[in-house]
Amino acid sequence: MEIRTLADDELRTAQTLFMRSLHRPPVTDEQWELVGRSFEPGRTWGAFAGDVLAGTALSWASKLRVPGGQVRGLAAVTRVGVRADHRRRGVLTGLMRAQLAEVAARGEVFAGLRATEPVIYGRFGYGVATRFHTVTVARDRAVFHPGLPATGEVRLLDTDRALEVLPDLYERIVRARVGSMARPDALWRTSFGWPIGTGHDPRIAVHTGPDGDEGYAVFAARRPDAGNATLEVDDLQGSSPAAVAALWRFLLSIDLVDEVKVLSRPVDEPVEAMFVDQRAVSKVVPMNDLWLRVVDVPEALAARSWGGPLTLEVRDALLPGNTGVYRVSESGVDRVDAEPELSVDVDVLAQLYFGRWTVSALAGVNRLRVANPEAAARADAAFALPATAWTGTFF
Ligand SMILES: CC(C)(COP(=O)(O)OP(=O)(O)OC[C@H]1O[C@@H](n2cnc3c(N)ncnc32)[C@H](O)[C@@H]1OP(=O)(O)O)[C@@H](O)C(=O)NCCC(=O)NCCS
Repeated sequence: MEIRTLADDELRTAQTLFMRSLHRPPVTDEQWELVGRSFEPGRTWGAFAGDVLAGTALSWASKLRVPGGQVRGLAAVTRVGVRADHRRRGVLTGLMRAQLAEVAARGEVFAGLRATEPVIYGRFGYGVATRFHTVTVARDRAVFHPGLPATGEVRLLDTDRALEVLPDLYERIVRARVGSMARPDALWRTSFGWPIGTGHDPRIAVHTGPDGDEGYAVFAARRPDAGNATLEVDDLQGSSPAAVAALWRFLLSIDLVDEVKVLSRPVDEPVEAMFVDQRAVSKVVPMNDLWLRVVDVPEALAARSWGGPLTLEVRDALLPGNTGVYRVSESGVDRVDAEPELSVDVDVLAQLYFGRWTVSALAGVNRLRVANPEAAARADAAFALPATAWTGTFF
């Protein structure tokens, strides 16, 4: 099997392979006009069995906001697929290894993906780092609490205008959110581009408050033929609770709608508390958000803020240069020759990095090793975060 990056004239074959692996039809010529521009040079991999493209995976250059607020390079991995007649022969394994080596060589500190099949990626060092809630609100019970902020105005934009407004607005909004990622150009282009020829018709609402644009929602009505519709909101972002509340107010005011379902919101957001009858929130489904792979462990440890000093060992079978014992504290990170208080595999480090679990909790289920109970308490304090991380971007 030959594994190499693809040339421009091979990208459409890769796209077709990916679509078919998800049981979707290949893109039409019209869709390819947009999708074809969503590949970044040198970042799409192919695995060849003879002259047959057997598998593909790509990444986009992005940035991830780490605890403490610094940003570091993130390779946003997507469009992973293997031909059905070449599966379980190590094609994915070959692609993942080549891609991680590429990401490391680019100096990107992290790789991240969204997994359709959760059992696959742990073996390559990925772990679920952040989570989100999918929230559904029933319109007939949705009476807002009288104290809920009501500010500003909401206007609808067409797609062309939205592509001018949303990327900057998004970047402004997520500056305050640990776990958020920069959205590659390609992502904006494909998320709004897919509708061509698919019948999917997203609408875009922007909220303006006292300081200008403060939030937006991208939504579409699903099942409109079955009576009243569900409004599915693929993306809702606001720079303040008031902006988010204003968008909920707008979405729940739209006629011929039974319920509003927002795909991704932070797990610590008190949505129920917006309503007089908290049963207005008919469903909250917790889901995996970002699957994180720490590619450069020393740099990832140095970038993050720490709630106290800790000596930890990281083991990484795929990128062995990461394996070692590190002393972390507010003043920096050093490799040391010392007994670690905590030992983790690199996929478990990903699950601790944004505070998804405490060290003590993972020690209880044998996912890591702590030297003694005092070390567990020190490690809990070291990793603790003041706010819950949220990524909230699909790619
Ligand atoms: C998932 C997919 C990419 C795996 O590719 P593949 O080339 O068959 O994977 P590999 O042969 O390299 O397998 C690597 C390991 O993962 C395991 N694995 C792969 N896919 C798996 C799955 N769906 N369920 C459970 N285990 C899986 C293999 O058994 C193998 O385990 P081993 O190393 O212990 O032997 C491929 O089946 C596919 O394209 N599926 C449809 C599209 C898709 O799911 N894309 C991923 C979106 S996140």
